[in-house]
Amino acid sequence: MNEVPAHVGIIMDGNGRWAEARGRPRTDGHLEGLKTARKIVGAAVRSGLQYLTLYVFSTENWKRTRTEVNFILGLVKRYLIAELEYYRKDHLRLRHAGDKAGLPAEIAAEIQNVCDETKDHAGMQVILALNYGGRDEIVRSLRRIIAEDKTAMVDENLIHAHLDNPDIPDPDLIIRTAGEFRTSNFLLWEGAYAEYYISSTLWPDWTEEHFNKAIASYSGRQRKFGAVST
Ligand code: FPP
Repeated sequence: MNEVPAHVGIIMDGNGRWAEARGRPRTDGHLEGLKTARKIVGAAVRSGLQYLTLYVFSTENWKRTRTEVNFILGLVKRYLIAELEYYRKDHLRLRHAGDKAGLPAEIAAEIQNVCDETKDHAGMQVILALNYGGRDEIVRSLRRIIAEDKTAMVDENLIHAHLDNPDIPDPDLIIRTAGEFRTSNFLLWEGAYAEYYISSTLWPDWTEEHFNKAIASYSGRQRKFGAVST
């Protein structure tokens, strides 16, 4: 049986449905989703987690309306500015996964600023997956390899070493809210052996109790990594 996972990834789904069910604009769902994200970061710290990856904005999310895209990116900026003090106080470290080059310059600069400010913090690491796609990350890894050495012998270790955050251990548990059974291009390489936990509850309705239940479910499972149980 497992202890507390070291690394949990969350696909925070259901913001739009939460708002639509209340006859409110989808953006209200994202605003509520941001509040939940702040709550769950606290819950993750209290649970003893070392790494928490939040799927904030995918490489496919650009297909949404300009209003929705701008609203989500605006929320990210607000989060980064507002939370820096909390990250300092609790020694949390912020990291980014995804294609920074494809982000608006002011968001990329703000991410860089908080990443730099918190880089020596030894507490839990929060990884914001922003303009992130699992396939895109693998392609970018291969491009980095080719840029370094066209004749390199490509193997799993080399691809892994050129991912966005090669020092971060693979996620032990991936949580998806709002009842969908899809990976949606999240941590495709790193999540190869992750345990999955699907919750029917929409992300804005998630509480610390939901999070703890997911962790307890993980702790009760036996992982085999392709081998047989002993
Ligand atoms: C998925 O719900 C949610 C998103 C694409 C955005 C997630 C963003 C946040 C929670 C706010 C920012 C958070 C941080 C930590 C900066 P959906 O819109 O796909 O919901 P639906 O499937 O019900 O339409």
